[in-house]
Amino acid sequence: MSAYDIEEHSYDVVVVGAGGAGLRATLGMAEQGLKTACVTKVFPTRSHTVAAQGGIAASLSNMGPDNWQWHMYDTVKGSDWLGDTDAMEYLAREAPKAVYELEHYGVPFSRTEDGKIYQRPFGGHTTEFGEGPPVQRTCAAADRTGHAILHTLYGRSLKEKAEFYIEYFATDLLMDDDGRCVGVLAWKLDDGTLHQFNAKVVVLATGGYGRAYFSATSAHTCTGDGNGMIARAGLPLQDMEFVQFHPTGIYGAGCLITEGARGEGGYLTNSEGERFMERYAPTYKDLASRDVVSRCMTMEIREGRGVGSNKDHIHLHLNHLPPETLHLRLPGISESARIFAGVDVTKEPIPVLPTVHYNMGGIPTNYWGEVLNADAENPNRVAPGLMAVGEAACASVHGANRLGSNSLIDLVVFGRAAAIRAGQIVDRDTAIPRASKAAVDKAVERFDRMRNANGAVPTADLRDEMQKTMQEDAAVFRTDKTLAEGCRKMEAVAAKMADIKLTDRSLIWNTDLMEALELENLMPNALTTIVSAEARKESRGAHAHEDYPERDDANWRKHTLAWVEGTKVRLGYRPVVTEPLTSAGEGGIDPKKIAPKARVY
Ligand code: FUM
Repeated sequence: MSAYDIEEHSYDVVVVGAGGAGLRATLGMAEQGLKTACVTKVFPTRSHTVAAQGGIAASLSNMGPDNWQWHMYDTVKGSDWLGDTDAMEYLAREAPKAVYELEHYGVPFSRTEDGKIYQRPFGGHTTEFGEGPPVQRTCAAADRTGHAILHTLYGRSLKEKAEFYIEYFATDLLMDDDGRCVGVLAWKLDDGTLHQFNAKVVVLATGGYGRAYFSATSAHTCTGDGNGMIARAGLPLQDMEFVQFHPTGIYGAGCLITEGARGEGGYLTNSEGERFMERYAPTYKDLASRDVVSRCMTMEIREGRGVGSNKDHIHLHLNHLPPETLHLRLPGISESARIFAGVDVTKEPIPVLPTVHYNMGGIPTNYWGEVLNADAENPNRVAPGLMAVGEAACASVHGANRLGSNSLIDLVVFGRAAAIRAGQIVDRDTAIPRASKAAVDKAVERFDRMRNANGAVPTADLRDEMQKTMQEDAAVFRTDKTLAEGCRKMEAVAAKMADIKLTDRSLIWNTDLMEALELENLMPNALTTIVSAEARKESRGAHAHEDYPERDDANWRKHTLAWVEGTKVRLGYRPVVTEPLTSAGEGGIDPKKIAPKARVY
């Protein structure tokens, strides 16, 4: 591939992605003196974490009694018993430490009267192991928490001399013949050059793949790039069938209205003006977990009680709240509602609809962020040289359904854990490995093939087809029929990648090429999602299967593994980790408390 000159760079660690997880990992690596680069396709503070609104969960007990065991219990129950117990314990136990670190780094959290970090209620977060009232556990910087965290982490990473490669699009992992990751290839968007990053460890922090769907709260950049790279490297993706719909996307626009709105006292009504959540979740009502609220809203609409002329959405009321609360605690969503729904939240309800928001599935890792090259025989086998953190990863700390505000804490707890682990495993005295010519050529060939693609199908048309298929056939409610139809359609859609047409052959700011490469990353995400969903014959968390409405622990309390082979997906399974890290005698949670049971709110 002599047509391209390739510039080389060598680092101990290369982090791909500069959202909350990528920056927390980058910062932690650089703090330990590891030579660290962060490669990112967007400017760091434009990463999708910037859109996170409501807050970050940690049992600080600033607003009332709380402890990490209650947080862990809520996370286990929220996951519908599919989360890995070691990872869930690690998350809940380390969360307060990780939030205080953020505070000391300079995150401008909202404050209580006595100067502590302000915390608000969020869905599914409770006291007394689900027996007590909702807890105020979600630490907030008004409704711009992600923005505050991202800016702080970027500043701190620069202070620690991490090196940033901004607007570099990582295209493929560079693997050696033994299956070790030794770097990534990246395309510099503003001058068109190609760059080979050699590294002892590559950390994928590339976020979710919300844009596989037509309507999502995710940024248009959320194209599952790391997951695509993993699939192309022949490694499995895990639990891809679990896609979270956030109850309150703005009707039509899809932008997020934070769950913090309900945490501050907002509530949902149907066309009869009824607060219908009282019927479905008598204890926690509008603060039941997200999958539950999204399903209840969908049922109200299906049964003819939606609002609007088409009876196809629901109302979220904040108009009864004091204007000072809206101004102080929810200024961002007040503005979003005005811009995107034309609504003055002090006077009128916001039109909302469940909207794709988060991917529980992703790249399988252990709770240190090491990527697993897992199969049934080797469920915990580590893929050397590779880590993954944040929404791209599946630790699996959210199992079948994530609790609101457990995402930001996942980013920083596991970004930090990956840095700690890298500090242990990276040998600073050995030479940085370098990919073989064959490995680099393979990555360059794919890039070049796409750049010169001259088929019949424009990228935007194919993306539209994929997004509509996923929206229709892998929705809030699924059936055998819709899923089988969806698998058939998605396979046909994926096959059309071979016939894609680009019109811009240049290398500088070529958005045509960038979008086609992103679409090629989205495809394996969409395929594995629908095929894994079709295979899972039960309902659990976000996977609501109408032909199998019950959870089936005997047969299905296991993680799905999915390998992409052309347009086909091969499935396997690995067991859920059920052992906590700390025994009850040492202050850990009593295993009986987290044994599977019916999930009611
Ligand atoms: O509703 C929200 O503010 C979203 C939070 C989250 O997804 O964790």
